[in-house]
Amino acid sequence: MLFISVILNVPLASTIFILVTLMGGLVGYLYWPFWKLRKVPGPPSLPLVGHLPLLAKYGPDVFSVLAKQYGPIYRFHMGRQPLIIIADAELCKEVGIKKFKEIPNRSIPSPISASPLHQKGLFFTRNSQWSTMRNTILSVYQPSHLANLVPKMQSFIESATQNLDDTSKEDIIFSNLSLRLATDVIGDAAFGVNFGLSKPHSICESMNNVEQSSANSDEVSIFINQHIYSTTQLKMDLSGSFSIIIGLIAPILQEPIRQILKRIPGTMDWKMECTNKNLTGRLDDIVKKRMEDKSRTSKNFLSLILNTRESKSVSENVFSFDYISAVTYEHLLAGSATTSFTLSSIVYLVAGHPNVEEKLLQEIDGFGPHDKIPNAKDLNESFPYLDQVIKEAMRIYTVSPLVARETSNEVEIGGYLLPKVIYLCPWTLVFYKTSVKISCG
Ligand code: HEM
Repeated sequence: MLFISVILNVPLASTIFILVTLMGGLVGYLYWPFWKLRKVPGPPSLPLVGHLPLLAKYGPDVFSVLAKQYGPIYRFHMGRQPLIIIADAELCKEVGIKKFKEIPNRSIPSPISASPLHQKGLFFTRNSQWSTMRNTILSVYQPSHLANLVPKMQSFIESATQNLDDTSKEDIIFSNLSLRLATDVIGDAAFGVNFGLSKPHSICESMNNVEQSSANSDEVSIFINQHIYSTTQLKMDLSGSFSIIIGLIAPILQEPIRQILKRIPGTMDWKMECTNKNLTGRLDDIVKKRMEDKSRTSKNFLSLILNTRESKSVSENVFSFDYISAVTYEHLLAGSATTSFTLSSIVYLVAGHPNVEEKLLQEIDGFGPHDKIPNAKDLNESFPYLDQVIKEAMRIYTVSPLVARETSNEVEIGGYLLPKVIYLCPWTLVFYKTSVKISCG
């Protein structure tokens, strides 16, 4: 202390005062989010890292473990940021439906704060911008539009299964196969572009390493490599980039640190910045070309947005160039990893339950001869057991357990008065997962 005071040439008392104030400020900054929620039950949390060590210890099961101990509503600290975990179906309905007006936006987790590319999609836009964007694209989700995608899906599945035959002597990593399949389907539905990843001996055999892609001259392969890299870096644990980790501990410092690190070659933040810049450039090119294409139809998501924008039925400010790129890219991201993860979980779980597999095959074979292709109606009505299996797998392995929503006003949930800007994580699975049952019945 004396040393600092000599160096700074200020009296010792002032130095002590400054240091105590700084320490007090730091402690206040770290404990303020906890203090606001001190009445909500939760395990004791460590300074800076909160409950992240519990997440490291138990993995996603941590939420069921804690629900058993602390009940249907409890605190979980992602670093400094507390999440309120809702582990009860009725309370989830309250958060997502009944009290939606008080909880209209999703929270922006630190990996997304570090990635401007992902911030302008539907997922993270807020308030009126979100509702206008959502109303514009809603028609893409009408059952009649989705039904039109079935033949496309069928053709990609046929390509992918050809792949299975070709490599019958080698092990197949199903999650890679399903990721290609999902990316092809969404690529077509979102951009109207066929990435061709499901084709036998596809160009994307090596989609592992973004650096390798510079040596690969294929445009699609580079795009996909960068997409995969950019997506897999959005980690919510302590293995993400330095700025993401800082964002968990001290969000206020995340952006300044990211701004510095993204300029230092070799750092993860720098790599993410380069990848995201490249991706943005490629997306902008696709959007620009499609804008110039006056003969476009509205069969894919991108064309639909551009048509709506040109018809002036929605303000150009809502769908400015960067938002169009982001929301289209978001579909590729939101649709491919989720679907691939879910398909992989289903195959994994069914493989471990031969009785379920048998019943499932009976239902599928009972639909008709091999060359009979189901349409959307058949898919809805003729496979009730398959539907149950899919839902059960999604219940057991939730793809995005930590999607949180943010309170915009003080709101009462489960007997606790939660203040403004609190993150709520409706996670029904926790509640049900206490008795996992996959059965034949
Ligand atoms: C098994 C597959 C999927 C799962 C498990 C899944 C899961 C989710 C979850 C949990 C949310 C957040 C809901 C909330 O905050 O209340 C969400 C939102 C969203 N998903 Fe999916 N999803 C899947 C497939 C897809 C597909 C195929 C697409 C698009 C092609 C897609 C696009 C979106 C979009 C755009 C949002 C934001 C919607 C909004 O803000 O209105 N998802 N999804």
